[in-house]
Amino acid sequence: MKRWVAGLAGAGLLAFAAGANAAEPAAARTIVRAPSVVKPDPAAALPGAKIFNTQCAGCHGLRAVGAEGPSLSDEYWIHGRTDADIAKAIRGGFDPKMAAFDFTDAQVNDLVAYIRAVFVATLVVDRSVQTVPNEIQHTEAADFRVETVAKFAAPYAFVFLPDGRALITETAGTLRVVENGKLLPQAIEGIPIGTPLQGPGRRILNIALHPDYAKNGWIYLTIADSNPAGRGFIMRAVRGKIKDSRWTDHQVLFEAPTGEASTARMAFDRDGYLFMTLGFSGNIYAGPPEDAPSLDLADPNGKVLRMHDDGRAPADNPFVNIPGALKLVWSYGHRQSLGIAFDSKGTLWESENGARGGDEVNIIKKGANYGWPVVTWGHRYDSIPRVAMPEMEGVEQPVVSWAPSPAVSAMAFYEGSAFPRWKGNLFVGAMKYRALYRIVLKDNRQVLQEEVLRGIDRVRDVGVGPDGCLYLLTDGGLFLRLAPA
Ligand code: HEC
Repeated sequence: MKRWVAGLAGAGLLAFAAGANAAEPAAARTIVRAPSVVKPDPAAALPGAKIFNTQCAGCHGLRAVGAEGPSLSDEYWIHGRTDADIAKAIRGGFDPKMAAFDFTDAQVNDLVAYIRAVFVATLVVDRSVQTVPNEIQHTEAADFRVETVAKFAAPYAFVFLPDGRALITETAGTLRVVENGKLLPQAIEGIPIGTPLQGPGRRILNIALHPDYAKNGWIYLTIADSNPAGRGFIMRAVRGKIKDSRWTDHQVLFEAPTGEASTARMAFDRDGYLFMTLGFSGNIYAGPPEDAPSLDLADPNGKVLRMHDDGRAPADNPFVNIPGALKLVWSYGHRQSLGIAFDSKGTLWESENGARGGDEVNIIKKGANYGWPVVTWGHRYDSIPRVAMPEMEGVEQPVVSWAPSPAVSAMAFYEGSAFPRWKGNLFVGAMKYRALYRIVLKDNRQVLQEEVLRGIDRVRDVGVGPDGCLYLLTDGGLFLRLAPA
């Protein structure tokens, strides 16, 4: 359903737009600027901004928030949301509501690029806001309460042990334990976190258990270390065991230089193969898109990797016989893969962040190409905005895609018993939109998407507990439990 948001053009957004267009004659009134929205607006500098403000904003609102005409900056579209659809709308108009525009191709491209760009800044999020709702949440298939189990300092990922305890990684380099719903004061000691990192300072990221953990005790971590050879990081997949609250039997399985200190999610399949994501956002990449590392089989970035539980490359990986190719590559052309999960049938799913639109959930197939940065439903963060190519022969299409980007993060299939009507549903967290999506799938297609929570905090990890409840971990440090009401 299309959301009309005429009422949104309130003081805050108007102040934002006026600030962005300082060259225009000043309006004869006092503008009250809300602190959270007065920041540089990258979209305003695009060539399409001027055309939009003079030709379109009268109906679609400043920054396309919607007024008499529909919003062009949210996820709801009547006539299709690809670049081609938007271009067609501009050229053809909608008689009698919107006249057709006789623009040059360059002007149409500029407008499309501008509309894509305003998506990014539409939702102004204060990172410090953490709201855990007290009221019962009524959703389509379940009523639930949100409970705070524990609070952490910059946590990243969690996993439940067979005995019901939870292990939680804190990016500063600690591994914590929650037992019987309580955070133990003592962290696991002796994790080789390496030298302190610049930038986001993330040292430990993700955690996974060996499928035979009950027998062998192997715990897998991804660790980001500083790169002595230059900029960026070294991403490392390691395993070890916990004995008497200490990390022991440490082994490094994989390491590679990367520009991303936020991906490296791991999941095991039923046969005991370890799958790991390594992202490639391309934010500082200046070469031709078709030569990007994500499309280069010799480079681990922008890939889903598959390895034996000890890090060796399986002989049946898809590119083992291509000279120069990295033997661990399972699929390629990925952007920032922040989520990976197997469904109950053993199909591998992956979620990734796009750029200005183009967040997606994919089914991961052996040897397949996912296109980034040549093929995407988003826009590249290029200096020259270009109309994106959403489809191409030989490139996999996402099962779910979002524009604008909620910044989707981790995901989990619900297979618990506490919420019978959630069985088999895919839950995907979102950081920018601070939301949790429930996706109902049928024959590997999305049939329903529901936002079961919004505005809580940046959701970083999602998982199902041994009690059948759904658990969330947020960037603000909350470990939350969704329990039946
Ligand atoms: C006179 C008012 C008016 C103006 C001016 C106008 N539009 Fe529209 N536009 C509309 C209305 C109303 C619709 C919805 C039409 C419908 O669904 O029947 C629309 C629809 C659209 C859509 C499709 C939205 C969707 O949800 O699929 C796009 C894209 C669009 N306009 C872009 C533009 C651009 C770009 C400009 C400036 C070059 C512009 N419009 C100028 C009124 C206007």
